[in-house]
Parts: sequence; structure tokens; C-alpha cells
Amino acid sequence: MAVEQQEVQVSEAQIAVHWREEEYYYPPAKFIGQANASDPAIRERFREQNFPECFKEYADLLTWDKYWHTTLDTSNPPFWKWFVGGRLNACYNCVDRHLATDRNKPALIWVPEPEAAATEVITYQELYWRINEFAALLRDFCELKTGDRVTFHLPMVPDLPVSMLACARLGVIHSEVFGGFSGAACGERIVDSQSRILVTMDGYYRNGELIDHKSKADEALAVAKKQGFEIDKVLVWRRQPGQYASKSPMVEGRDFFVDEVITDYRRRVVEPVSMPAEAPLFLMYTSGTTGRPKGCQHSTGGYLSYVAGTSKYYQDIHPDDTYWCFADIGWITGHSYIVYGPLALGTTSVMYEGVPTYPDPGRPWRIAERLGATTFHTAPTTIRMLRKLGPDEPAKYGYHFKHMTTVGEPIEPEVWRWYHKVVGKGEAVIVDTWWQTENGGFLGSTLPAIDPMKPGSCGPGVVGIYPVIYDEKGEVVEAGSGRAGNICIRNPWPGIFQTIWGQPERFVDTYYKKYCRNPESKDWHDWPYFANDGAVLAADGYFRIVGRVDDVVNVAGHRLGTKELESAAITVEEVAEAAAVPVVDELRGRVVEMYVALKPGYVASKEIEAKVAKGIETQIGKIARPKNVWIVADMPKTRSGKIMRRVIAGISNFTDPGDITTLANPEIVASIKEQVQTEKRARGDVPRELTAQEAEEIKAFGKNE
Ligand code: WT7
Repeated sequence: MAVEQQEVQVSEAQIAVHWREEEYYYPPAKFIGQANASDPAIRERFREQNFPECFKEYADLLTWDKYWHTTLDTSNPPFWKWFVGGRLNACYNCVDRHLATDRNKPALIWVPEPEAAATEVITYQELYWRINEFAALLRDFCELKTGDRVTFHLPMVPDLPVSMLACARLGVIHSEVFGGFSGAACGERIVDSQSRILVTMDGYYRNGELIDHKSKADEALAVAKKQGFEIDKVLVWRRQPGQYASKSPMVEGRDFFVDEVITDYRRRVVEPVSMPAEAPLFLMYTSGTTGRPKGCQHSTGGYLSYVAGTSKYYQDIHPDDTYWCFADIGWITGHSYIVYGPLALGTTSVMYEGVPTYPDPGRPWRIAERLGATTFHTAPTTIRMLRKLGPDEPAKYGYHFKHMTTVGEPIEPEVWRWYHKVVGKGEAVIVDTWWQTENGGFLGSTLPAIDPMKPGSCGPGVVGIYPVIYDEKGEVVEAGSGRAGNICIRNPWPGIFQTIWGQPERFVDTYYKKYCRNPESKDWHDWPYFANDGAVLAADGYFRIVGRVDDVVNVAGHRLGTKELESAAITVEEVAEAAAVPVVDELRGRVVEMYVALKPGYVASKEIEAKVAKGIETQIGKIARPKNVWIVADMPKTRSGKIMRRVIAGISNFTDPGDITTLANPEIVASIKEQVQTEKRARGDVPRELTAQEAEEIKAFGKNE
């Protein structure tokens, strides 16, 4: 089982890989029998010889006002244009066209966090009215026109998809900022996108508390004002119409309650604006390495085709499913796989307002049981949390998923197996979908009814996506070589973002410059997309994503992926979560320190520390043996649940952990610091003062957070 310890030759261009191969799991016959894609001929249809015309199959899932004349226009690389000449409206495709046959079908089922509160079922017909009325308000009260930007700072409430689709109906570009982000982060994004209107909410439930959210709008506007930008209007949805949940004062002439203003727009119908396929649909901000956030600009026709197609074949969405993607719409996952993809296919999409473990870790399974959810889609961090806090909860409830998804970070095989056996009860197929905010939809995944699953690997490229791994010199890293490199996509695809809003040079530099063969070329073959992720390609054609290219610890010239270290640590019975960080070391350059959190019922001990160190040593090699194993109460996490490695890296190195205002649990930082640094001082294990470059590196560690 353990990987043999052998000398591995590592050049700068290579990353040594120590994963062991995992066993295959096969899709259940019952799933195959009903799947949208069960004929392997689908791969033939999408093979490279048929590119780009193969994507007609995705575009044909939509209703076009005008059919396109050019599938892919490559005249201005790498600013690709898809379905040129075509016109359509995204809202019409997600709502209006389903009315004739399905108007009384639930489009959205919203589960509020308080468990005693009633679930809200919104039919396609009802959704249609809500969208039309809000679109009328945006157009006539806010004077928004096609091409204008609007920033939303909304939590997981139905008003969010209503607001998105109302914009889409008008051809107005929406930019949703994750509700958990600070007012300051929202303010920066308002300025970057030059939005004259902010749409927010008074409050929402999280962990049993009605949180004051409107106050963040005041902060956002103050930040924008400091940068010389002023907003015209703030629209405030109220969690309970008529009751105000915030202490923040409403500013006369600037702030308006939607439930009051909308009474003037009742029963108003707004014709969907027919948009060119290439018109931007929305912006989704993501953080880059430094400074200015990146507003990823997604198109209307290409994006919607891509999310509809991947929802059909990879999410296996059928119109009569009750599909539950347990993500936040504030992230791209929610845009693509709660709102646009599922609604384009006319299914029922579930939204949950709150945290997974409120009031207890059985909550998700009660929701699934009550709604009869057929599908479950979430991130490894949520799976780990539910496994840690309620490992036996799923068995208590009578739900049955046919299909489950994991997305957002590599999943440890140990956690995957729990997801499969306990959450999926061995009945559900799992797709591990690898992609990014920039991509619109999935890039790597198994086809659920066709390919076997392999824990920890996303699988091959999805249909129509041709990935390759290059080393630093641009040489192909062959399948089965056991070496990691930079995963790239050789071809354009309809869901790829069009540019970084207002930063076209950064778009080219970050994603295309590294492996561009000829900047003058108008042939897409010369413009591979650099994903900024490290990956390994096994002999069977399955990719294993090892994390961002910057998420590696270089020990004596031997690069170790944080994920492989963490997976090894988590095989120790007592360990629930693990994070690996680099510590500057005189002899070896960097050494690894491990932070682990235990499952409930276990107490920290030297013995567990030793087991973790030993586990890493046997599974990866002596070189990876951590200098210290710190057993902590919890990890510092972003609101989306990603462990903030740079914060603990800062603690281990006695450097500034950086901004912690976007953490979900900022209070944990001081207690970890106290625990670790006190002990290190006692052991005489304080590193020398770091050079500026070293300090930069530590601060930038785990940049994808
Ligand atoms: C980064 C993108 C995809 C939407 C949510 C996250 C990592 C994503 C996987 C996966 C391993 C994954 C990559 C990627 N990632 N999915 N299935 N296995 N790693 O979007 O915030 O843009 O993050 O998340 O490192 O680059 P994002």
C-alpha cells in the first residue's frame, strides 16, 4: 500500500508525485439505466476532429431568437467568440420557454435556515412574475440599460436568482459578491465594475442568528466613495417584507426597500431583450495573486450552452429531478449549477439558506429526505465537516441520491470513500468535477454512467475539452510518467470567460502567455489555456489535481503537494482535517509543518502527533516527514470553507499572517498563534528573521483561497 521510498530525480520543471493508485468504483446499474449519457459514442461526437462543431449539440439545448452563422471565431486570440451571429435571452431560456408545459412545476425550492420555518416552493410561473416585476423596477426606477453593471451583495435567498434573471432579461450585467464577504470587498468590486446600483438585503439567517447585512452596504459605499465612486441607488430586499432586520439607517433618496417600490411594478411584463451570443451575461470576481480582484466576464450564448450541456451529461439532470446543489450562488458553482444550468433544463433546483450543521449535522440529510432530493452537489470541505461532526448521521435518514458531485478542491480518497459509502449509501454515482471561476463549467470529470470512478481523481477531460500537462519548458508530461506538471486546456470552449473586466492584458498574461507558441497566430492550437493548477496524469487517462501551482512545499528541491501531505495525514483514524504549510529551514530550504484537527471524541496527544508524522513518512517518504504536527481546535477558514494555509504558514514562520477579515472564524487565529508560538519558543525553535522574498512567499502561500 505504501509507496516505496526511492530516490526521485527532480528538476525544476518537475514535481515529484507520491500518490498511490486508488481502486476503481463502478456506476450502479440503476443509474446507468436512466442516464442522459450512457452511450460511449458521445466521446466520438466530441472528439477533436469534430471540434468546434461538436458544441452545436450544447447550443441546440437552447432556444435561439436567431441562429448563429459561425461556431467559433478565432480572429482575435485569445479573445474567442462563440456562436457568432446568434441572438438569445438567458432569462427566456431559463424561465419563459418552460411555461407552456411546466408552469406549475417548482423551479426553485428554498429551505430557510430556521427549521421551523416553511419551505418556499416557487413554480416557473411564479418565478416568471417575480422576475418581470423586478426587471420593470430595474429598468424604469433605476434606469438601467443593456450593458450596464449592477452589483449584488445577496445571501442564499430566492431574491438572488430573481435578481440575476431580471438582469439577464434586460441584458444588464450582474455581478454578485458572495454574501459572506465584507462590505469593503463589495465596495472594491462596485468600483471595479462601475456599478451604479447595489442590490442587497437587510439580514439573513446563519447559524441560528439573524445577521445584520445592510450595514455592509454602508461600508461598501464608504469604500467606493473613498475611491471617488458614488452609487445612485441601493435596493434592499427584506428577509421578511415589511420588517426591517438591520440597524443601519435607510438613507433618504438613496436606499429603497424593494418590497415597497415593487408595488408600482406589479403585473408588469418586460419583454426579454434579444442579446447577441457574445454579450456579457455576468461578472464573477475571483482573487488573483495580488491587488485588484479579477472580474471574470462570462458570455450569454457560449456560457449558457456550456452549463446546459454539462448539466445534462455530467449532472445528469432530468426535468423531473429534485436537484440539490449545496453551494452558495455567490460562487461560480451556484451561478452555473444552481441557477443557469438546472433552470435552462427546466428542472427543480433546491436552495438552502444556512450552514450545513445547523442546528446539527443531520440537517442536510433531513432536507434531502423531506424534499426527496435525487442529486447532491457540494465541496470537500463540507463533506469533511459533516464527516467530522456527524459521521453516522446520513444512515438515520431515508433519502436516496442517484448522483453526487464534489467540487472546488482535491478530495482525499479517505473522505471520498465516506462520501460514497455513507452519504451515497453505495447507491449514488459520484463525479469529482475540476474547474475554475474562469471556466464557466466543468473541465475534468468522469462521465457518470460510462466511466469508473477513482477516489481523488477528477477523471479525464470532459467531452470537448482536450487537456494536456506541460512541464516548465513546455514539454508534454506523458500519461503514467508519475510526474506532475501544469495542466492546460489545448482548445477554447464555449464556457471560457471572455476577459478580465477592464484588464485585458492581465487576462492574456495570466492564462495564455505562458504556453503561447506564437503571439501572432490566429490558430487556436497555438494558444493553450494555462489553468495555474498542478496535476498528474495516470496511465488510464485520469487527472489528479494536486492544487494550485503555488500550493507546493519545496523540501530540499523536492516539491510536495499540500494535498498529498494532507491526504496522508487524514488516513490516521483520529484526524478529521489537515493542512500542510512550509516553514523556512536553513538546511532543507523548506520543511513541512502539519496542522490537524481531530474528530469529536478524540483528545490531542503526543501519540496522535507521532501517528500523523509516521503516516506521512510511510505514505510519501522520509523527506516529507513534518517538522511539527500541531493538533488544533479548528482551522482558519474562508467563508466558503477553504483552509487559509497562508494564515497558519505565517504563524509557523513568525511572520504576519496577512488580512484575516475574510475568515469565517477570525478568532481562531489568535488561539492557534498562542499555542504554536509559545511551544516553539519553549523548544528554541524560532526561525531566523525571514528575508523579504521568503516572507513574500509565505504570505502568498495557498493563493487560491
Ligand atoms: C480552483 C478553482 C470550480 C468552482 C469552485 C472553485 C481547485 C476546483 C477541483 C477538483 C481538485 C479543484 C483548483 C482550481 N479545484 N475543483 N474537483 N479537484 N481541485 O472555483 O474558486 O475558481 O477555484 O479550485 O485548484 O484551480 P475557484
